[in-house]
Amino acid sequence: MSEKITVSLIKADVGSIAGHSRPHPKMMEVASLAMSKGVKDGLLLDYYVTRCGDDMELLMTHRNGENHKGVHEIAWNAFMDAAQEAKKMHLYAAGQDLLSDAFSGNVRGQGPGAAEMEFVERPTEPMLIFMADKCGPAAYSLPIAKIFMDPFTTTGLVIDPRAHLGYDIEVVDVIDHKKVIMSSPAEMYDILALIGDTTRFAVKRVLHRDIGIAAVVSTEKLNISAGKYVGKDDPVMMVRCQSGLPAVGEALQPFAFPQLVSGWMRGSHYGAWYPCAVDESDPTYHDGPPRVCSLGLQISNGKIQGIEPPNSPPGNHKPLDYFAGKEWDPVRNKAMEISIYMRGHGPFMPGIVSPEELEYTTRPDVLKKIESRMEPL
Ligand code: F6R
Ligand code: MG
Ligand code: MG
Repeated sequence: MSEKITVSLIKADVGSIAGHSRPHPKMMEVASLAMSKGVKDGLLLDYYVTRCGDDMELLMTHRNGENHKGVHEIAWNAFMDAAQEAKKMHLYAAGQDLLSDAFSGNVRGQGPGAAEMEFVERPTEPMLIFMADKCGPAAYSLPIAKIFMDPFTTTGLVIDPRAHLGYDIEVVDVIDHKKVIMSSPAEMYDILALIGDTTRFAVKRVLHRDIGIAAVVSTEKLNISAGKYVGKDDPVMMVRCQSGLPAVGEALQPFAFPQLVSGWMRGSHYGAWYPCAVDESDPTYHDGPPRVCSLGLQISNGKIQGIEPPNSPPGNHKPLDYFAGKEWDPVRNKAMEISIYMRGHGPFMPGIVSPEELEYTTRPDVLKKIESRMEPL
């Protein structure tokens, strides 16, 4: 039997420049150093450090399975080191997502978000990672529904006998911390009845009935784990592609629709999701608009292979940056048009999210202040 490989994508916002924009290169450097120590110690096979907006993303490959204490500790230490650098430079929100001083054995519930998958590596293993800024985990639900359930997006569901089997979708209730696995296409309408409510439900995993894990999303609700607002979740997703799974192009297609996602400024607005290159992911308009980046790579004997020379040392990879091309300009232009339109609502719904979803509020104070002046109608 082949040895299984685990791919872990762990992210956190531990400080940035000029507000909530971009981690300093020094922060990325010390995080890389912590990762390289993980390779030296034999816990990691390979890694790649990247970012989307103000969030740092640590992509790691190893053979230790999901939720491995040592692997999570490497990620935790990398974030701690980066936060330390941010603090030294007096950067903004330094250490924001690290909710405790000490590592407790798993980054989940401690602030960072994690998407991990374990599988037997196929002879060739293409993969996409998605990284988002200024939005919540349910942002991926609509693209997932299109990629894995919609034959008008993924023609493979109709004409590729392996994809034709359909997928199992794990849906989580992010408020009550419950999950259920449902089958598509048999239960497609039931699945949509749940995940259409992006305030409560999000897709965590997608499973192919023969091939196994196909996609995984980080669904931690940061504001709920912290008990108070400490930043949006800014989720990540990994999708295995090709040979019975969605083609890369099928997995990217839904992002040509700049859907409205909640988050953006103060985690409290609806903005159009803007696909862009990693280097273009600084939030430049009204702390946004909410961004999404997509990187393409191969997993090759447990290592990451991009366009760098074969057998390059760990940490030196160059994945494809799928949203960098000008093909995506029309989508970006449309996203900006929609986002500017949404801003026209100012502090009125649906420009802002519903009162329960607001990340900041003065409403209780205002209601208290005017209490004695409130009269029956
Ligand atoms: C949203 C985000 C920003 C901040 C905003 C106010 O996820 O990070 O839009 O909410 O810049 O930030 P503070 O409260 O730090 O002044
Ligand atoms: Mg942030
Ligand atoms: Mg962020």
